Amino acid sequence: IRKSIEIPTEEGMHRDLIKVGYAQVGAESDWRVANTESFKSTFTEENGYELIFIDCQQESENQIKALRNFIQQEVDYIVLAPIIESGWDSVLAEVKEANIPLILSDRMVNVEDDSLYMTWVGGDFIQEGRNAILWLNQYLEKMGRADESINIVELQGTLGASAEIGRTNGVAEMIAQKPNYHLIAIETGDFIQSKGKEVMESFLKTYPDIDVLIAQNDNMAFGAIEAIKAAGKVPGKDIIIISFDAVHAAFEAMIRGELNASVECNPLHGPRVAEIIQKLESGQKVEKIQYVPEGVFDQENAAKELPNRLY
Ligand code: AHR
Repeated sequence: IRKSIEIPTEEGMHRDLIKVGYAQVGAESDWRVANTESFKSTFTEENGYELIFIDCQQESENQIKALRNFIQQEVDYIVLAPIIESGWDSVLAEVKEANIPLILSDRMVNVEDDSLYMTWVGGDFIQEGRNAILWLNQYLEKMGRADESINIVELQGTLGASAEIGRTNGVAEMIAQKPNYHLIAIETGDFIQSKGKEVMESFLKTYPDIDVLIAQNDNMAFGAIEAIKAAGKVPGKDIIIISFDAVHAAFEAMIRGELNASVECNPLHGPRVAEIIQKLESGQKVEKIQYVPEGVFDQENAAKELPNRLY
């Protein structure tokens, strides 16, 4: 039996609110802030929801606690953006036991039993990784550098997160097809701007001949750009920079010429999850896996696209 609370409406009626618990990763990036905002502006009382939002501060233990807290509060639905893919079997079994439908948003879980979640909605991280190198191939071709030896460094996101695993694998798969591409260093910056800067500083000290930086999110690229400037190099020229997310500030950096390309990862999952909940409420089936369409933006189209960007 679904639990809900009631509030008086303007008409003096009572209305049942659907109680939704969202265990969010944290606030590590512009993308994440936009994702939180998308949920908070969608899951409002006016729209018929009571949202219990927990910022798990990039700590898996906090996410597990959040899920147990939602079970205790007898929410109607749980939405989880898992920080990392592993370690979910037992707590998701508790959620299932409590009969609470679980919706995965953004990142995935690695579980034996896929009946532990109803559905997943998010970006295709492997394809995003491939798209980064496809963009690079075209760019180098255009610059007449396709046959040069290219030294690549990569800043990874949180190790074990779907966004990191998918992008790392997609990038690696495409690099393996190019004998002249050399991945000379790869290290995590945890999707955080300051860590992106720190790791890039150490890459620059160790490797004087970096041609390309792949940063697994825009914020780490912003940090790395600071490090590159401080090292006396010109970001976007001396070092080609490709990142992921395509947030507002990335468009501004592309327009300034400091970032070469950003592979889109769409954070606006609030309305998508609300649509899933409405379908489940009316007894409809939902697809198990739902990918969101995503593009690639670069310095050629950044200025034209910026006014259309919603995050
Ligand atoms: O899971 C999506 C990733 O998480 C985004 O690329 C990154 O910015 C965020 O922190």
